[in-house]
Amino acid sequence: MHYGLCCTCLTHMSFKDKNILVVGGSSGIGLALIKHLALQQVNIYNISRNRSDDWPADVIHIQADVTSDLSSIDAQLPEQLHGLVYSVGSINLKPFQRLTQEDFLNDYKLNVLGAIDVIRICLKALKAAGEASIVLYSSVAAKAGMPFHASIASAKGAIEGLTLSLAAEFSSFKIRVNAIAPSLTDTPLAKNLLSTDEKREASAKRHPLNKIGTPDDIALATQFLLSDHSGWVTGQVIGIDGGLGTLKHL
Ligand SMILES: NC(=O)c1ccc[n+]([C@@H]2O[C@H](COP(=O)([O-])OP(=O)(O)OC[C@H]3O[C@@H](n4cnc5c(N)ncnc54)[C@H](OP(=O)(O)O)[C@@H]3O)[C@@H](O)[C@H]2O)c1
Repeated sequence: MHYGLCCTCLTHMSFKDKNILVVGGSSGIGLALIKHLALQQVNIYNISRNRSDDWPADVIHIQADVTSDLSSIDAQLPEQLHGLVYSVGSINLKPFQRLTQEDFLNDYKLNVLGAIDVIRICLKALKAAGEASIVLYSSVAAKAGMPFHASIASAKGAIEGLTLSLAAEFSSFKIRVNAIAPSLTDTPLAKNLLSTDEKREASAKRHPLNKIGTPDDIALATQFLLSDHSGWVTGQVIGIDGGLGTLKHL
């Protein structure tokens, strides 16, 4: 049977003229995502404290710290938003006994409350788009128990709960909500864990696929979740993790 598909249909993500907000697009995964979206003629909005020299010229930068009052960003957003990605996070690894209540609170504020605040501000514009997609980032550590991850795993566990709750609540507005749970990915956030060849090799070896992630690995999966190609996907937490989260590594 001929379905009338061609190469263009399979690769074309139908993003043209859509408005997508990336929070945390000045570095790492968010920056890689912006570079991919720019090839798809997306109108890109970015919230971060700093600009990136690597951005395409037409990225609209809304300067803000997600841990502060965000009420003023509303006026800088478009009336319709087709996608929202919250790519802000932390890697604060310490033995449990050295983690303070402040550590837990800071990780929760940056990873979870920041996302909640941004979603709250964007909800009207996401609804106005008719169909929209929200992508959040968990971590492989939310489900795979790892020593020294108590604080970040707690915060990312909350992200996974938030993803499912909002996916259920927003389905009637045709807003899809999904999360990606990456394992160690080569971004500035992970620089201390990847600062020597020995550390990089040891980290790669922990993964069944024997490599650490690249920002593109995560950005391309995010682009799929933003696109119409994932139009029937919501309430999912997808591991992009070289197999670390689910496979036994012999
Ligand atoms: N890299 C990994 O190994 C890994 C593993 C699992 C999960 N993740 C998750 O993946 C997501 C992206 O991480 P990444 O590795 O790409 O991080 P990254 O390279 O550190 O980039 C983080 C982005 O967030 C922005 N940001 C940080 N604090 C902010 C604040 N207070 N207000 C506004 N913007 C802020 C940064 O921009 P400014 O500094 O300009 O504000 C930057 O654009 C995070 O949710 C992270 O937890 C990463």
